Amino acid sequence: MYRFTLPRDLYHGEGALEALKTFTGKKAIVCVGGGSMKRFGFLDKVVAYLEEAGMQVQLFEGIEPDPSVETVMKGAEAMLAFEPDWIVAIGGGSPIDAAKAMWIKYEYPEITFEEMCKVFGIPALRKKAKFCAISSTSGTATEVTAFSIITDYQKGIKYPIADFEITPDVAIVDPELAHTMPKKLVAHTGMDAITHAVEAYVSTANCDYTDPLALHAIEMIQADLVDSYNGDMDKRNAMHNAQCLAGMAFSNALLGIVHSMAHKTGAAFADFGAHIIHGAANAMYLPKVIAFNAKDEDAAKRYAKIADVMNLGGESTEEKVALLIKYLRGMNDDLNIPHCIKNYGADSYPTEQGFVPEDVFLERLPEIAKNAIGDACTGSNPRQPSQEEMEKLLKCCYYDTEVDF
Ligand SMILES: NC(=O)c1ccc[n+]([C@@H]2O[C@H](COP(=O)([O-])OP(=O)(O)OC[C@H]3O[C@@H](n4cnc5c(N)ncnc54)[C@H](O)[C@@H]3O)[C@@H](O)[C@H]2O)c1
Ligand SMILES: [Zn+2]
Repeated sequence: MYRFTLPRDLYHGEGALEALKTFTGKKAIVCVGGGSMKRFGFLDKVVAYLEEAGMQVQLFEGIEPDPSVETVMKGAEAMLAFEPDWIVAIGGGSPIDAAKAMWIKYEYPEITFEEMCKVFGIPALRKKAKFCAISSTSGTATEVTAFSIITDYQKGIKYPIADFEITPDVAIVDPELAHTMPKKLVAHTGMDAITHAVEAYVSTANCDYTDPLALHAIEMIQADLVDSYNGDMDKRNAMHNAQCLAGMAFSNALLGIVHSMAHKTGAAFADFGAHIIHGAANAMYLPKVIAFNAKDEDAAKRYAKIADVMNLGGESTEEKVALLIKYLRGMNDDLNIPHCIKNYGADSYPTEQGFVPEDVFLERLPEIAKNAIGDACTGSNPRQPSQEEMEKLLKCCYYDTEVDF
């Protein structure tokens, strides 16, 4: 038996934010990040609509990008004091993911972070509150997914919390919120979205319900992402939907080792002053992982199907896979994303020598590879890497060398 779970309601299109006016409840806590939603007036609208719905509203502000365990615990305390029956999270993946984890801790105050990370081990929620997610970036699709990514900064590791319990009750996908994204954010989140769709399509948990979502998302992202990056707002609107479709696919078909590697490298060099931004990490690793996974015959056929849907040409499966890799690398160039960690600058742009020194990378490599293998996303990857293979793969991602194993 398999399960396919999505939010009960999804409001989309311009003006979708107004759906908040129709909510019923007594108290809503609004979880939000550092300021972009306030600056652009969306936070005021959310509060006004919820008040119009007759609710008392409290804000939990200042959730940082790549949210920490500490922030989750603080937010849960605020919830325990205020006792909301709605949790409304607005922003990018970071505030929404943090709010999901706060929700678990609010419903089960005794639960530890370690217990939350037990894959598909979350007890039944919704005894205290329902959850609405309003996305302002076009990538993570956390508004429809069963995932939340929280960073343990002591360990320098991102942990995915995974359970259909944390799939939101309501998702609001209003493209107006995405209009204010700076170009860099469009690029990173867009490549995150295509990675979700590609990984979901080749995942060992793919199925008839997830495949059409993944393929259609890929087609749309191919048509829309680069133009959206270059300022076309109609394409920006389309990307907001495309990333959400990709999310519906991967929330149910799961992901693969591109994400395992992104999770375990993202904060691993934070002591050198920067993160490898999630979407950029995916963009760099995806072509390498395709080459690695394509040694598996079924996965290769699926990549070839993606190449067909994208109209990339090619005769044999091998040729099609190579064309897909080439196309994705071309997207990175169009979006000003480097091809490897060595060339990843602290500002995320391509540079001769990036912020991760070679000797530090090599020293931390065995541990990072071990953690990546242990990541929750590895189990559904079509080819299971050994420690040695994962180290080799990560090296290819550092130096931009060819994957021939
Ligand atoms: N839960 C999931 O299923 C899932 C999937 C993929 C990634 N993630 C996680 O999500 C996080 C990344 O989320 P993200 O890429 O959405 O970015 P983010 O939420 O970290 O936001 C990045 C920055 O963009 C700003 N911002 C957000 N929306 C904006 C807008 N419309 N206009 C202007 N500025 C805006 C924020 O204020 C912030 O400074 C990572 O922690 C990643 O691991 C989660
Ligand atoms: Zn992702």
